Amino acid sequence: MNYAETIKEIVTRISPSPTVYVHSFGCRLNVSDGNSLLGKILDMGFAETEDVNSASLIIINTCAVRENAEKKVYGVIGELKHVKEKNPDVIIAVCGCMTQEKHVAEFIKNTYRHVDFCFGTFAYKKFPELLYNALTKNEFQCDNNEYPNDFSDFNLYQKSVIKADVPIMYGCDNYCSYCIVPYVRGRERSREVSDILSDIRTLTDNGFKEILLLGQNVNSYGNTLKPPVPFSELLKQAAEIPGDFKIRFMSPHPKDMRKDLIDIIAEYPKLCKSIHLPLQSGSNRILELMNRQYTAETYMEIVKYIRKKMPRCTISTDIIVGFPGETEYDFEETLRIIKEAHFYNIFSFIYSKRTGTKAADLPDYATAVEKTSRMTRMLTLQREIATETYAEYVEKTLTVLFDGSSKTEGLIAGKSDEGIIVEAPGTFDKIGEYRKVRITKSHNWALEGVILNF
Ligand code: 5AD
Ligand code: SF4
Repeated sequence: MNYAETIKEIVTRISPSPTVYVHSFGCRLNVSDGNSLLGKILDMGFAETEDVNSASLIIINTCAVRENAEKKVYGVIGELKHVKEKNPDVIIAVCGCMTQEKHVAEFIKNTYRHVDFCFGTFAYKKFPELLYNALTKNEFQCDNNEYPNDFSDFNLYQKSVIKADVPIMYGCDNYCSYCIVPYVRGRERSREVSDILSDIRTLTDNGFKEILLLGQNVNSYGNTLKPPVPFSELLKQAAEIPGDFKIRFMSPHPKDMRKDLIDIIAEYPKLCKSIHLPLQSGSNRILELMNRQYTAETYMEIVKYIRKKMPRCTISTDIIVGFPGETEYDFEETLRIIKEAHFYNIFSFIYSKRTGTKAADLPDYATAVEKTSRMTRMLTLQREIATETYAEYVEKTLTVLFDGSSKTEGLIAGKSDEGIIVEAPGTFDKIGEYRKVRITKSHNWALEGVILNF
């Protein structure tokens, strides 16, 4: 049966103008999954709405990476009970990383009776069938089986008309001991080079100016292809596509950050000079417990090589504070590497125990107060480093892609090639093209400047 066509018929009978509301939590890859699904639903005849109360179909795309992400998701799902009470015809679906976990899907089924169906990260292809069943039968369904991924149903729909996300690989084989991803996203698998390049061509032909290549472990791209293709080769071929656009990628693993990859980034102007390189901890003892497969020293060798090849390349990182067994000494090792590496930005997280991961069984002695205090100390240090780093850009000219308005009236905002937020006085006609900006002022989170007219 062609479910998509049948759904179109059914929903237009129920409502002449059916609408869909999609809320994605979590990382860019999950948001990209949500947009791909939204693209498929729009093709079925729905229109997108930002108003959850008037939607005919509501999709909550969940994230399981930390407990507070899950709490937020449960809060949102709970609230939907009132929406269903007011509009009993609405179909509510919950998908993504949380519902891939059998015990979570079971909990949702038993606790939130207003949810019509759940599906996991492998079952996007099954969505039309699940929606058809929800429209025609009145019983809860859940599909979190692990289907082989052939990527054939991937939809390129983007929310922005300037920046586009292109997933290139899914899953992760690294099994970092704190991380739920391998359990909810499965083993690593990569899309074919030709499919990715064709997506980039389609997007850039349609005016997109920035392509973000996504993967949970983006630089181990291509290991599962036959024959294997290194990530550096994919980047090179992508950067050789003609047109006025730039490429970023997220998130690489330090253990796969080889010199040939850094050399390619240095060689091609289309590849942004900004690398997000998750460190997680600066203590070798903790890195081993985390199963990260590198040491603080090998991490710093990569940082030094990046700086040598590309002096203006910025580096940002992820840090987990309070991993089980982290001592004051371990934490100070992290602070030491933060100072040495001079990150322009840090995404920091307090360790969150994830059932089913190896670290969940490790003894943990530090108190919540100690962990919060470590976090505060780290953020204070980072603010000092960022203030210093950002101040160095004053009086310099950066290339910026503006893509929206700033919170301050009269200013537009975008990101420089180096990944730094830049704001400048301007109107919407300056959006969507690369602009030269003279930096006039720095903060510890962004720069301000004036757009040069040439
Ligand atoms: N607790 C805290 N932070 C985590 N991350 C992943 N798993 C956990 C966890 N259990 C962080 C890592 C990763 C980022 C996406 O989320 O720093 O790089
Ligand atoms: Fe969250 Fe990880 Fe899933 Fe992304 S892959 S949505 S960060 S659990």
